[in-house]
Amino acid sequence: MKHFTHFRDISPDIANALIRRARALKAGESSQALRNKLLGLLFMDPSLRTRTSFDAAAAKLGGQAISLDVGQGVWGLEYLDNVVMNGDKPEHVREAAGVLSQYVDVLGVRAFSHGEGLASDEADRIIGAFRAHAKVPVISLESAREHPCQGLADMMCAQEEFGDLSGVTIALSWAPHIKALPRAVPNSLLLSAAAMGAKIKVAHPLGYALAPEVTAQALQLAEQTGGKIDFYTNQQSALRGAHVVYAKSWGPTDALVPSPNDPSLAEWMPTEAHFAQADEKAVYMHCLPVRRGVEIAHEVLDGPRSRVLREAGNRLWVQMAALEYLLS
Ligand code: CP
Repeated sequence: MKHFTHFRDISPDIANALIRRARALKAGESSQALRNKLLGLLFMDPSLRTRTSFDAAAAKLGGQAISLDVGQGVWGLEYLDNVVMNGDKPEHVREAAGVLSQYVDVLGVRAFSHGEGLASDEADRIIGAFRAHAKVPVISLESAREHPCQGLADMMCAQEEFGDLSGVTIALSWAPHIKALPRAVPNSLLLSAAAMGAKIKVAHPLGYALAPEVTAQALQLAEQTGGKIDFYTNQQSALRGAHVVYAKSWGPTDALVPSPNDPSLAEWMPTEAHFAQADEKAVYMHCLPVRRGVEIAHEVLDGPRSRVLREAGNRLWVQMAALEYLLS
């Protein structure tokens, strides 16, 4: 039984094959991979794109999705083992996963980071508990560590723009925000771009480095695919020559540094002027939702560089390809 909750679940070859399949599905090929099958979608955190695109993917594959919102009509779920459950979570993942596995053929789980630190995010224990106890394939709808379907959709979008990504420079830049955000999306961007053999330039203020384990995994992938990863604490150095500018906020790894909304970091919000030294065809990408005027200037988001809608649209196709793969 296959799961797809982390990039380590698939090789770079499979990542490329999934994107090729997603592009074929987008071009009009059809599939009934989910015919007479059910996709369970368990949300512990809100969503617009993931919920709707997985719903649509299930329907297009001839099946049906069932969405469940934990804490809103669905019991709160405990995931730790050997705890006395005398708090506000009446059901354990052990039973929930075992029960849901009898109703659905694939189970999607969204369980964000709740700011318990890098080690906790790296351990990704909630989605890990579902993997351990489900009897059907588990697919990530975004967890504390990763958002792998987002990473594949991002790479599909970049390929549609520039073709083979081995000669393409992707700048992953930190951006300001009103609060500290999880690192799942930048982690997945880094891992997926490394799997494609891209040249990646990561830029962030001091104290905002990505997790060492994820970075080490990405460096290993880049070595395997001929990619390259460089790190900067100066945004302009990273944006120089970039074909893709992925400007996205994430939280600090050092509690003593300025918060993401500190005025001293405001210049990290890309405006059109920030693209002056990027490639002339540089595009702007972001997973969405994005806070206008906080993470990105309106002029970029509404201008000709923006690929955010295409990127979100590609979620549908890569998820269809991933569901086919899990059921094959
Ligand atoms: N990008 C993304 O996962 O969007 P949602 O949070 O709306 O699902």
